[in-house]
Amino acid sequence: MRILVTGGAGFIGSNFVHLTLSTRPDVAVTVLDAMTYAGSRASLAALGDRVTVVEGDITDADLVDRLVGEHDLVVHFAAESHNDNSLSNPWPFVHTNVVGTYTLLEAARRHDVRYHHISTDEVYGDLELDDPARFTEATPYNPSSPYSSTKGASDLLVRAWVRSFGLKATISNCSNNYGPRQHVEKFIPRQITNVIDDIRPKLYGDGLNVRDWIHVDDHNRAVWAIIDHGQIGETYLIGADGEADNKTVVHDILELMGKDAGDFDHVTDRPGHDRRYAIDSTRLRTELGWEPEYPSFREGLAATVEWYRANEDWWRPMKEATESKYAATQSIVQR
Ligand code: NAD
Ligand code: TYD
Repeated sequence: MRILVTGGAGFIGSNFVHLTLSTRPDVAVTVLDAMTYAGSRASLAALGDRVTVVEGDITDADLVDRLVGEHDLVVHFAAESHNDNSLSNPWPFVHTNVVGTYTLLEAARRHDVRYHHISTDEVYGDLELDDPARFTEATPYNPSSPYSSTKGASDLLVRAWVRSFGLKATISNCSNNYGPRQHVEKFIPRQITNVIDDIRPKLYGDGLNVRDWIHVDDHNRAVWAIIDHGQIGETYLIGADGEADNKTVVHDILELMGKDAGDFDHVTDRPGHDRRYAIDSTRLRTELGWEPEYPSFREGLAATVEWYRANEDWWRPMKEATESKYAATQSIVQR
């Protein structure tokens, strides 16, 4: 089986490639990645000749048409993925997430190739902290940010291509991922690498916003379950019952790294900051038999701390530029 993985040099895509090579001996992988600031060749180093890396853009229709035609399956991870960046400059989000997805869908339609679309629970908007509800496949779309609205737009294109053109596609919407090879702009790796550098972790606003954490390998195992056994045209929510507020996560990181749990700063809040995300993954569990393998968020977090400690060469080149970007918009707030 030949699979085309877009965004395979990014966080989740590179972990998907690693997982695929170690569990699927019959699969050959082509990565299509534009190598933006978020793409890392180091994330795909020494993987052998079952992986080919093509540096290119998913909005390049000729390149995409040729590559899609040479594969049996497209797994589409490539995206502009960071909410904070989408607030300072939304255009790359519209271009990559919407036009890029459109370009892939048209190629998959022309060549009649199976397509799996990776998306986020952020398309559903946010929940109140005390709301007993969680997102399900039936929750109406209500995105808040340029990032989540462009992801929502891309999901709707997929649904339309299934219905109008009979595209053989599935969609998954997953909650917040953590694990190895995540860019240091994101919450968990930012705080772990701050602590390594003796910088106090930075919490937006009151720190009580809740995210539903899942280890990236559990996400990617669910993606394979959907590719193998999901129903064409359907959406599956992926989540591991990992709700935690940001303050608790920072406490845990500080504790795991031998620091005082109160040793963090509150900084300027993100405009439009979603309060809470929570996933009900009953459909994935009952219809496809998927269960997360990480026994708890705390254990996955401890393993992630160890990965960043052991792989400074991987993250060091991106740390300074990331922190200077943040310093331009965020300042410490006394609470
Ligand atoms: P990431 O930012 O780490 O990686 C994105 C990758 O896409 C990078 O390698 C980048 O170079 C590549 N890319 C960007 N624009 C491109 C373009 N125009 N053409 C080709 N390649 C391009 O992102 P991630 O966190 O790994 O997210 C991957 C996917 O999973 C995204 O679709 C995201 O919306 C989705 N998702 C992420 C999370 C999360 O917690 N990170 C949760 C749910 C869903
Ligand atoms: P993030 O990793 O950007 O993911 P998302 O916005 O897609 O959920 O942020 C996760 C949560 O952490 C979110 O509530 C914003 C918050 N956050 C901080 O408190 N401090 C930080 O330095 C960052 C990057 C995020």
